[in-house]
Amino acid sequence: HGTMCVNQYGHLEIGGCDTVELANRFGTPLYVYDVELIRKRARSFVGAFQKAGMPGQVAYASKAFSSLAILQVINEEGLALDVVSGGELYTAMMAGFPPEKIHFHGNNKSPAEIEMALDYRVGCFVVDNFYELDILDQLCREKNVKVNILLRVTPGIEAHTHDYILTGQEDSKFGFDLNSGQAKHALDTALSSSFNVLGIHCHIGSQIFETTGFLLAIDKLFTHITQWKEEFQYEPTVVNVGGGFGIRYTETDAPLEPEDYVSAILTEVKKQAAENHITLPEVWIEPGRSLVGDAGTTLYSIGSTKEVIGVRKYVAVDGGMSDNIRPALYQAKYEALVANKAIHSDKEVVSIAGKACESGDMLIWNIPLAKTQPGDILAVFCTGAYGYSMASNYNRLPRPAVVFVENGQATLVVERESYQDLIKLDHPLYEVVKK
Ligand code: LLP
Repeated sequence: HGTMCVNQYGHLEIGGCDTVELANRFGTPLYVYDVELIRKRARSFVGAFQKAGMPGQVAYASKAFSSLAILQVINEEGLALDVVSGGELYTAMMAGFPPEKIHFHGNNKSPAEIEMALDYRVGCFVVDNFYELDILDQLCREKNVKVNILLRVTPGIEAHTHDYILTGQEDSKFGFDLNSGQAKHALDTALSSSFNVLGIHCHIGSQIFETTGFLLAIDKLFTHITQWKEEFQYEPTVVNVGGGFGIRYTETDAPLEPEDYVSAILTEVKKQAAENHITLPEVWIEPGRSLVGDAGTTLYSIGSTKEVIGVRKYVAVDGGMSDNIRPALYQAKYEALVANKAIHSDKEVVSIAGKACESGDMLIWNIPLAKTQPGDILAVFCTGAYGYSMASNYNRLPRPAVVFVENGQATLVVERESYQDLIKLDHPLYEVVKK
């Protein structure tokens, strides 16, 4: 997919760059992003709104992958941005992202984070709970400002996905419950405070392959919107349906195209608004994974192997759960290719192990690969979302570098951590006598 191909040397090429050369030049493990594919995905989301002739906003959920360079690409493509912490907000500001296009999310924003976002003048707060409503109201009064807010609600819809990634169901730490009247109470409170209540927000889950969950959530939202109109004479100008659009990690995944999710959502919002005599609101979405996930590929060097006779062959790479926690955490599946043997037909089934001291550190079980030798380069696909952003220094492994490729150009956008970086925050108890 994207700009991937096999070049004349039988090497995997991305964005016009030979991945074997990238591995030699920048070292491994290495995250490689196909920038053209990110742009294509962004345009596909935005295009769906244009096609429907509906105003809206596509905000990139930067938790999927945040760095100065990616946020600049996202800004170039005209998207808005979703941040969930002071750290993500700071990164966005340092990338020159326009603050009015930033939405601030999170279920436990600290007073300091809220104040920081107010001082940066972010475009919108997605308010999650009563505690936040209260602090935000106080701070707004102190600073004599009026802010835009969305109220995050939990519609009680369970999208089919992994349990840890579910967020829209009722028993969830996020948002105001719709069914119990909590959301209505929150709206009442917000409307009588000094906010500009733009509307409501919900997010039903992640890596979703169907539109059903979104449509059910929209129906549910409109039932309540209709009641609120009667009770408070309030109509939302924005309905934000979150992110969660799935991508194809392996052949068995069957996601829709970005524009298909969006057009189904827009059609349902139009229908519900018309049926319930509600002024057509703007629809906002917040894709993370579907903008950057399949644009990312991780390159590893292959090292040791172990054969458990008659059972399995383990092939170890120079990274693992420290740069991709998803297999260990969610049993996530990936596909891979030996980048320097991209057209080999002589394959064997192996399992890809990481290098961390933990048996659970397995990246892929039972995958047919060209026969490998130490020094071969393994490319694991679709690692662009929640790979770098969830990376750790477990076992004191330095985090990998990130390279952007586009039109045959490779640009280092995040440096590889050094051993010095690993101890830069440490304070020794006493002076170490250097030998
Ligand atoms: N909006 C909200 C409010 C969210 O909570 C999330 C993701 C998104 C948007 C973006 O969702 P996406 O389009 O990326 O699915 N670490 C997990 C995914 C956690 C997603 C959390 N919320 C993983 O690696 O699969």
